Amino acid sequence: MGKRYQKLFAKYYDPFMGRIEAKLEHRRRLLINPLIGDILEVGSGTGVNFKFYNELAKVIAIEPSKPMLEKAKERLAELEPQHITLLNIGIDDDKLLKYSPKEGFDAIVCTLVLCTVPNLEHTIELFKQLLAPNGRLIILEHIHAKNQPKAFIETVINPIWKRIGEGCNLNRKTDELLKIKGFKAINENYFKHSIDFYEGVFVSC
Ligand SMILES: C[S@@+](CC[C@H](N)C(=O)[O-])C[C@H]1O[C@@H](n2cnc3c(N)ncnc32)[C@H](O)[C@@H]1O
Repeated sequence: MGKRYQKLFAKYYDPFMGRIEAKLEHRRRLLINPLIGDILEVGSGTGVNFKFYNELAKVIAIEPSKPMLEKAKERLAELEPQHITLLNIGIDDDKLLKYSPKEGFDAIVCTLVLCTVPNLEHTIELFKQLLAPNGRLIILEHIHAKNQPKAFIETVINPIWKRIGEGCNLNRKTDELLKIKGFKAINENYFKHSIDFYEGVFVSC
């Protein structure tokens, strides 16, 4: 959809997410607050994660959608955290290399983004290249339902959902693909809020 819809999406994203967000907030905090060192946050959206970083985290937050980025800037201004740099780029933009530490990032934070990236496999490969040895990949994501009738419905409505949700897919088995592509979960949880969710802390192997 066009730029006008992108703006509308950014405007109503937080109100739309409100009820789900109330249930995700404590999970975000537990995943993000302990992180220290060089952090890459991929697809920061309206900046919902910013308040969870501690002052020892030096964060590069990337977001390709300008309307989302504008919302994130507002949030950043409210928080005034000097340790977060916000960039208007996507994960596959070469400009990211300029901001990547020589040894790689200590952690990559990716929340509700792998449902949307155009090429999931390629994105996971990029994570491997961008992470430092022993770096952590932090994932919070909705995934394809494990329950068969629900999974079927998600597959059927996915084309419409994807249009309305700015590229968001309901039927990605992100939990499985991360492992197939060479990440090992050192901590993981499955949970439900209407749809199936997954959170994991991964190392590359
Ligand atoms: C559903 S929002 C999630 C925002 C936020 N991370 C959160 O937890 O609420 C997905 C975000 O991923 C961004 N995105 C889509 N493709 C991307 C890419 N290739 N690289 C980085 N971000 C991307 C979108 O612009 C959007 O802001």
